[in-house]
Amino acid sequence: MKKILCVLSSPSGEYSVSNKLAKAIVEKLSSSSDSEVTEFDLTKEDIPHIDGATIAAFYTPAEYLDDDKKATLATSDRVIDALLAADEIVISVPFHNFGIPSSLKAWIDHVARVGKTFYFNADGTPTGMVTGKKVFLAISSGGIYSSGPMQSFDFAEPYLRAILGFLGITDVTTFRAEGMAIPGVKEIALPNAIEQLSQISA
Ligand SMILES: Cc1cc2nc3c(=O)[nH]c(=O)nc-3n(C[C@H](O)[C@H](O)[C@H](O)COP(=O)(O)O)c2cc1C
Repeated sequence: MKKILCVLSSPSGEYSVSNKLAKAIVEKLSSSSDSEVTEFDLTKEDIPHIDGATIAAFYTPAEYLDDDKKATLATSDRVIDALLAADEIVISVPFHNFGIPSSLKAWIDHVARVGKTFYFNADGTPTGMVTGKKVFLAISSGGIYSSGPMQSFDFAEPYLRAILGFLGITDVTTFRAEGMAIPGVKEIALPNAIEQLSQISA
């Protein structure tokens, strides 16, 4: 059975455009095969910014982890286990200040963990350990960033492709509902993006 992890990051909940697009992607992915979908809404989960104790625990070898450090790593363990268990990961990405929402950044900071999701080779180069997965990004923005004069202000998709690649995930597909602040565009942006989902082979 295919396992799909849907990570939602918009604070706008049911009104969110990126959440709607992400859910439409999940529906498409699960339409023609036996699938198990796990939804992980970052606005409802307690995913704190990483602090000094978490970083210290990240870099403590497993055999030296005491109970306190193990407890500190519980959030990271939880999000990594969910990621590693998934075959396909759908991420809703509302564009915030030219980048990703801070909740999604906090999730990434718990996911990117040396010895668990990546390691360094003897020559200092990194190798991602999260392999064999497909990621689908559902990005929504007020402006248009896929082309045109604002393209270089997109720090969301290039960043996500970079960090996912670092972790070993290179099969990344992006769908966008963009121009949500532009009259004449905002009305058709989501339906057009959903139409594009026919490209997905479930
Ligand atoms: C805090 C915040 C920051 C935003 N920053 C940008 C931005 O930098 N560029 C942009 O085009 N739209 C920006 N927007 C608009 C959102 O990207 C747009 O409304 C998008 O559809 C939100 O997705 P959602 O409906 O899934 O939350 C911002 C919205 C919020 C709430």
